[in-house]
Amino acid sequence: MPWISSAKEGRKRATSSWFNMASLSPLLVAVLCLLLALTGRLRAESCIAVYWGQNGYEKGLREACATGNYEYVLIAFLNQFGGGQIPQMNLAGHCVPSSGTCTFLSNDIRSCQENYNVKVMLSLGGGIGNYTLTSKDDAKEVATYIWNNFLGGSSFNRPLGNAVLDGVDLDIEGGGTDHYDDLVRYLKAYSTAEKKVYLSAAPQCVFPDAHLQPAIDTGLLDYVWVQFYNNWVCQYDPADPSRFKEAWRKWSVINASEVFLGLPASPAAAGSGFIDIGNLTRIVLPFVKKSEKYGGMMLWSRYDDWISGYSNLAKDYVCPDRRLYSISPTLVASSSV
Ligand SMILES: *[C@@H]1O[C@H](CO)[C@@H](O)[C@H](O)[C@H]1NC(C)=O
Ligand SMILES: *[C@@H]1O[C@H](CO)[C@@H](O)[C@H](O)[C@H]1NC(C)=O
Ligand SMILES: *[C@@H]1O[C@H](CO)[C@@H](O)[C@H](O)[C@H]1NC(C)=O
Repeated sequence: MPWISSAKEGRKRATSSWFNMASLSPLLVAVLCLLLALTGRLRAESCIAVYWGQNGYEKGLREACATGNYEYVLIAFLNQFGGGQIPQMNLAGHCVPSSGTCTFLSNDIRSCQENYNVKVMLSLGGGIGNYTLTSKDDAKEVATYIWNNFLGGSSFNRPLGNAVLDGVDLDIEGGGTDHYDDLVRYLKAYSTAEKKVYLSAAPQCVFPDAHLQPAIDTGLLDYVWVQFYNNWVCQYDPADPSRFKEAWRKWSVINASEVFLGLPASPAAAGSGFIDIGNLTRIVLPFVKKSEKYGGMMLWSRYDDWISGYSNLAKDYVCPDRRLYSISPTLVASSSV
């Protein structure tokens, strides 16, 4: 078929995408889209991560995934661990993990993963909690606990039931600063080719981060969502974007697979740093998208996003340009039969 050969030319021209729709005529693009839609595999990509768990009124986990707006949902938080403490989650008004009332979330987690292609991760830390790592052995113990209670291991009282989460996020904002690099190495050691353990971190936008830099410098993190809020030194300021740009330039070249723009999902979601949708799409996204490691946007939080509708407005502009016109070879192959 003629569009197959155009696709081959497209491959030569495109640097990072296998297939470049822009090189095809509009009619062929329409036919291709129709074929893909008929096979039920055309799905708008999402490139947004969101924190869920810290507001009982934000609705369910499955409902968050069903919006189709998110690629990652970070369950917040495991906010007590380390130093010999019994690890404990806090999920605000949703349920009480230590009493076993959160195991129903396993169905939501599996639905997010299987029906909506969302990666669901456990987030450690947060603004309020009792957490610290006192030694390398302590880090190892916490890693073992997380493996057995949230990942592929087993235990009799997994707080979220038997669903296997996709990975672990570090939002370390207090406690000691040591041994998070050890924790990252121990967690990564559980990752296998069949079942990857994804790792991410949410540093403050001041570079380097006061708590997470050693963990980031391991080079083992898949995603780093930088919090460009609550911080006048580096958040976006329309009157003077230079400090934001300078901070982004530093973050955008760290040794991690992808770097995300972390923002409040509404003016009320954080003390400062909210960017209105017009300036986000006209100014800020075009700037950050120039970075090779730009992966998308992180939002605090699901509650605020649900109220404001920010991700609804932003989602079509967020994905890196390299992903806009890329279609995986299997999709093209399946629709050509
Ligand atoms: C931290 O631990 C102390 C002592 O166990 C406790 O009194 C306090 O409520 C805990 N704080 C949080 C935020 O969980
Ligand atoms: C990034 O981290 C990986 C994994 O630790 C390491 O192999 C690689 O050398 C690092 N790259 C740079 C440029 O530091
Ligand atoms: C958007 O950015 C412009 C500067 O480029 C600024 O003057 C304006 O106040 C910003 N809008 C909002 C709502 O912050």
